[in-house]
Amino acid sequence: MDLQTRYMGLELKHPLIASASPLSESLDGIRRLEDGGAAAVVLFSLFEEQIHQEQSMLVDALDQGADSFAESLSFFPSLDLGDFATTPHDYLNLVRRAAESTEIPIIASLNCITSEGWSDYAQQIEQAGAQGIELNIFAIETDFSMTGQQAEQRYVESLKLVKQAVSIPIAMKLSPFFSAFGHMAQQLDEAGADALVLFNRFYRPDLNIDTLQVLPTLTLSHTSEMRLPLQWIALLHGKIRASLGATRGVETSAEVIKYLLAGADAVMTTSALLRQGPAYLAELLTGLESWMEAHGFESIRALRGLLSHAQVPDPRLLERANYIKTLESYR
Ligand SMILES: Cc1cc2nc3c(=O)[nH]c(=O)nc-3n(C[C@H](O)[C@H](O)[C@H](O)COP(=O)(O)O)c2cc1C
Repeated sequence: MDLQTRYMGLELKHPLIASASPLSESLDGIRRLEDGGAAAVVLFSLFEEQIHQEQSMLVDALDQGADSFAESLSFFPSLDLGDFATTPHDYLNLVRRAAESTEIPIIASLNCITSEGWSDYAQQIEQAGAQGIELNIFAIETDFSMTGQQAEQRYVESLKLVKQAVSIPIAMKLSPFFSAFGHMAQQLDEAGADALVLFNRFYRPDLNIDTLQVLPTLTLSHTSEMRLPLQWIALLHGKIRASLGATRGVETSAEVIKYLLAGADAVMTTSALLRQGPAYLAELLTGLESWMEAHGFESIRALRGLLSHAQVPDPRLLERANYIKTLESYR
């Protein structure tokens, strides 16, 4: 049985990737993901603010007496970056050691908000041996004068900047919150994205009504969260050149199969591995193989996108019909 897939220009032995999470924070963790059966590992993200802070500290050390250090400390006023123990230097070391001591592709992850000041760092990630970079642009537009088009432009510019800086493939991990997601996907595709990863999960804080505090909360995902990425993967399959990576809601091999049928080139998982441990990857893979065998599929290629919208003349009408049918199905 041929489980191989091509994702962001990388040849993978099968479509299961361990997405960014604390499981890849150490070399030991990355090795466990490889031993568990991951075809590739996306490292946890390094934040743009960490890169800026390290750069500012460097400037300060070179230019003692200037107030650049104070500036760097106020760059990210409400968050003690000490919470994120990894420095950009440590991150590069981890990329280097992971690339040297594993057989699978190591994809670094950068979480950024602007398009400035970190493309040099992307080059260093490439030099350290990463086979790809996933860009996770987390920005909630709180400047109400910014238009949708300007917001979208920021994503395209960031991508172009990194594409100019490195020759390894770049994946864009995206949120669904664009007024016309298909157009956004198309723009990124034209700007050279090697993959789109659908969809990023946002962790919205809760409020504690006793202490009157804002509470950062993180819950692991549930399988029902896969419907939105599933729908967009089905809509985009065959319409763009970039690969499609699915992230969100994989609990069993059934979700992996659904994502592939919709048209994903690779399927990622984090919550399931945090719950069950890295060895669960092998179970997901066995489930996929058994299903393929039972349904007579000899390769991933044969089943990928079978339930996508690629052959549908007017996907908008189909989506509308599905919506109406879904409401009616309650009766
Ligand atoms: C504890 C935790 C840490 C995460 N850290 C990162 C991160 O550093 N960078 C990133 O892009 N995504 C991060 N994610 C998101 C995951 O990579 C993944 O996209 C998300 O959990 C949805 O997939 P899942 O349903 O398989 O969990 C994190 C998720 C969890 C639960």
